[in-house]
Amino acid sequence: MTIRIGDVAPDFTAGTTEGRIRFHDWIGDAWAILFSHPKDFTPVCTTELGAVARLKPEFERRGVKVIGLSVDGVTDHRSWSKDIEETQGVKLNFPLLADPDRVVSDKYDMIHPNADDTLTVRSVFVIDDKKKVRLTLTYPASTGRNFDELLRVLDSLKLTSEHQVATPVNWKHGEDVIIVPAVTQEQASARYPKGWREEKPYLRYVPDPTK
Ligand code: BEZ
Repeated sequence: MTIRIGDVAPDFTAGTTEGRIRFHDWIGDAWAILFSHPKDFTPVCTTELGAVARLKPEFERRGVKVIGLSVDGVTDHRSWSKDIEETQGVKLNFPLLADPDRVVSDKYDMIHPNADDTLTVRSVFVIDDKKKVRLTLTYPASTGRNFDELLRVLDSLKLTSEHQVATPVNWKHGEDVIIVPAVTQEQASARYPKGWREEKPYLRYVPDPTK
């Protein structure tokens, strides 16, 4: 099943390193990032999980829960977490889903058989507080993801949700944002009484409203 932006994230019940969860209940009123990694006890995955554990306070600050997944079982996850702590200098501080029967991987189309017919690729799903998918990413097994980029994306998505603005290329928190085309000039005048920088009628910048 292909999951697209705007779809409701499929719900499921599965075991994790922190006990059994029903996914939608686990998300609750927060946002969530569900990401797959191909296999326990593999090098790139080890570095990724260390990076996510280090960034956990940044995800929390943005109201976002993180959860990993691979087709391994909870026993392997727990055993591997010791290696993660030893090599990455940080304790695994978020749950890892066990998916030995590939139920969740199949629901989320995380196995791409022409790449590998048993292991998951590196999928990412950002899910909002209404359980809607807001971003999907797919990386191959050989390329570790940039989780700082996910923080940047979260800042952009939250701005869009809360302030009806979009963010330009390479935008970072605090930089000018773009008034979305759906906002008319009249609506923009009411919303931004101090005005905006207009390079074209469709290219209108205002300061980051959260700055
Ligand atoms: C890794 O995490 O290093 C990895 C996992 C599966 C295939 C290739 C690399």
